[in-house]
Amino acid sequence: MTYETILVETIGRVGLVTLNRPQVLNALNDQLMTELGTALTAFDADENIGAMVVTGSDKAFAAGADIAAMANYSYMDVYKGEYITRNWETIRQVRKPVIAAVRGFALGGGCELAMMCDFIICSDTAKFGQPEIKLGIIPGAGGTQRLPRAISKAKAMDLCLTGRMMDASEAERAGLVSRVVAPEQCLQEAIDAATVIASYSIPSVMMAKESVSRAYEGPLSEGMLFERRMFHSLFGTEDQKEGMKAFLEKRKPDFKNK
Ligand code: CAA
Repeated sequence: MTYETILVETIGRVGLVTLNRPQVLNALNDQLMTELGTALTAFDADENIGAMVVTGSDKAFAAGADIAAMANYSYMDVYKGEYITRNWETIRQVRKPVIAAVRGFALGGGCELAMMCDFIICSDTAKFGQPEIKLGIIPGAGGTQRLPRAISKAKAMDLCLTGRMMDASEAERAGLVSRVVAPEQCLQEAIDAATVIASYSIPSVMMAKESVSRAYEGPLSEGMLFERRMFHSLFGTEDQKEGMKAFLEKRKPDFKNK
């Protein structure tokens, strides 16, 4: 498959997608989101891949949905055709972990895309925000829903209503990102984390992702039940036997289902 708006490569068992529209700070248009979904879905189906990383450039992870592309849309265009965000949730259907490596701006749809990933590692130059209010719109790809869950209602309201940017240290304090590193380390840090994940047994990796996602997306009682059932089911895998046996024998586990 040839892509025009993203770069796709493999590093060991890690699939890397780099958003690549530098002239517009990786503004997210329909083509880019389709290509991103296709690339991630292909990695998800590839037995040689255990985790994925999505990144942008030093200046921008992504500066949001493509304003030039949507400036003249009417209500009927966006409602009926679901233009702008129709293919954005593909990333949430991917069952293997996806890490966002964010340097520079992650604004509007860029911030929403980062939040659709399973976790965010960012550089100390990263800036997050939902500036849609300045354009006379509101976030349209999950910003009003994922931000309050990720960083509290207070900060979500602040960002969505003022349109201000949040720097990396505020994002870390608020719980939006899992790690903050120097810009030149950011991508490698994410690839290293993905490499660690890809070394584990894939059923436990996928079930851990599904279970944490449940906590984030549904009520606590449902999430607890879901986690319990996933936990029980892992006792049917040979990797659980191997993992625990290896611990007791004080050696590294040799997982079969990677
Ligand atoms: N869409 C289209 N083009 C964009 C863009 C976007 N979201 N963001 C930046 N660009 C373009 C600029 O128009 C500019 O193009 P030209 O060189 O042809 O003029 C180029 O990228 C570089 O941008 P700037 O000159 O503005 O760079 P800067 O360093 O001065 O500012 C910035 C950087 C603060 C990120 C600024 O570009 C900016 O505010 N961008 C828009 C951010 C935004 O409003 N995002 C929300 C979009 S709506 C959305 O995402 C809806 C949703 O929820 C799905």
